Amino acid sequence: MPDQPQPNYIPPPPPTVEPLTLHPATLADAPALALVGAATFLEAYTWMLPGPDILAFCAEHQTPAAYAKYLAAPTTRITLALTGAEVPVGFALVCAPEISDDVTLPGDIELKRIYLFSRFRSSSTPVLDAHGQPIPGLRGGQALLNAAIADARSLGGRRLLLGTNAGNQRAIAFYRRNGFQEIGTRTFIVGDQHCCDLILALTL
Ligand SMILES: CC(C)(COP(=O)(O)OP(=O)(O)OC[C@H]1O[C@@H](n2cnc3c(N)ncnc32)[C@H](O)[C@@H]1OP(=O)(O)O)[C@@H](O)C(=O)NCCC(=O)NCCS
Repeated sequence: MPDQPQPNYIPPPPPTVEPLTLHPATLADAPALALVGAATFLEAYTWMLPGPDILAFCAEHQTPAAYAKYLAAPTTRITLALTGAEVPVGFALVCAPEISDDVTLPGDIELKRIYLFSRFRSSSTPVLDAHGQPIPGLRGGQALLNAAIADARSLGGRRLLLGTNAGNQRAIAFYRRNGFQEIGTRTFIVGDQHCCDLILALTL
């Protein structure tokens, strides 16, 4: 007699990753942005920050209210990455610069956040165009950055700035591949940790 599935059997995940589509975020997306922001921040910084500091940061900055505030600002644009089942898995947020005045110039826009769950970073994750067709060779992270650059230009930006942890080698390689150049550093304290960010800029 063939094996019967157990009543609480959970099937294995599908072998391929769900395609992504990109959408401009609206106020209604604030809870989704907070969820993705907290989850990807946790995933990205387990190697660097103690748990209490991650929790404290997320409780203050990765909240629906924090994203609603960004979305209400005329100088903010957020692009959300969704699977076909409308699961939010990443986003890119550009806004008026919050980086130190020492490095900012008129016409600067900041890429404040760009997050994509690691499961969706693979080259086998298709990114679909507005007609539902895969865009050849385009990965999810690159699609989000392209959207952020387009958003920054639509805001009249002449330069796109960002700060990223000096140990975040993957993100740094990604930004350098896209033409960002280092223009400075900043240090700050999270909990008991002294952190160092590289400040990178891309001429638009
Ligand atoms: C930043 C992010 C959106 C980039 O998207 P991505 O899909 O990972 O980017 P890509 O795979 O296109 O590029 C990453 C590059 O880093 C390289 N890389 C990966 N791990 C690396 C490492 N440990 N050291 C150096 N380079 C590394 C990859 O080989 C790739 O380079 P390639 O152009 O030669 O292929 C994504 O990694 C992410 O969401 N990270 C977590 C959140 C985060 O760190 N955000 C940025 C905060 S400022």
